[in-house]
Amino acid sequence: MITKCLFPAAGYGTRFLPATKAMPKEMLPVMTKPLIQYGVEEAVEAGIDVMAVITGRGKRAIEDHFDISYELEHQIKGTSKEHLLDEIRELIGKCTFTYTRQIEMKGLGDAIHKGRVLIGSEPFAVVLADDLCHNPDGDGVLKQMAKVYEKYRCSIVAVQEVPMEETSKYGVIAGKTIDDDLFMVDTMIEKPDPAEAPSNLAIIGRYILTPDIFELIERTEPGKGGEIQITDALMAQAKKGMVMAYKFKGRRFDCGSIDGFVEATNYFYTLGQTAP
Ligand code: G1P
Repeated sequence: MITKCLFPAAGYGTRFLPATKAMPKEMLPVMTKPLIQYGVEEAVEAGIDVMAVITGRGKRAIEDHFDISYELEHQIKGTSKEHLLDEIRELIGKCTFTYTRQIEMKGLGDAIHKGRVLIGSEPFAVVLADDLCHNPDGDGVLKQMAKVYEKYRCSIVAVQEVPMEETSKYGVIAGKTIDDDLFMVDTMIEKPDPAEAPSNLAIIGRYILTPDIFELIERTEPGKGGEIQITDALMAQAKKGMVMAYKFKGRRFDCGSIDGFVEATNYFYTLGQTAP
């Protein structure tokens, strides 16, 4: 069973400046919920109850969001607006939040390594809240991946097909086809140019990692952009056949970009209009 989920949330969100000058990008709302809340809900649905957040300077709003706001609760108690807090209250009641700070930005691999103190030595999930996922027809993406983990007991990355000209935005994998939606990874490259990309299967921000990843990250040299890349650390596991890539069911919105963010907003707005 996977019981812990890591949320790397120390990044600056420069693409959304000035909105993210004083507010964490993970708190940008799609409709009425901040991005990170969608991620936490997805983790809870997958049976996870410990949310381990890697924060940084200027990210305190995340901690406050997953806490009681006494003044506000007192103000709206007994009014017609009280129900607006029901959902978040219920969510907070279902999980524990732990936090540590990444002091310097040294890449996603480094951010995940900072989470070692919160995770310990068990397999864990990773959610990049920028990637907002939704499956209207069944299990959420993390729950789908947890099921794959139960069967294979190795690291799992979520992948989706992207246009070849976009490979330089993602970690890209190639591997042996196990099933329609499952591959045993043998190659993974961080943000390759289309000419060097081994396929068009791009990693999106959902991972299940086995805890040996922490030591592999320690041995990983800075890669693309001079940063410690999780993709490079995972390659050491992939060489032993211990990484599966899972083509998930559902939609994924790149809410780290303006286009993806607007698309997600329109999608959830329309969904709200058509819900029973
Ligand atoms: C990170 C990873 C990349 C992955 C992407 C998914 O990149 O390094 O391998 O494909 O997340 O969103 P970032 O978007 O942080 O640059």
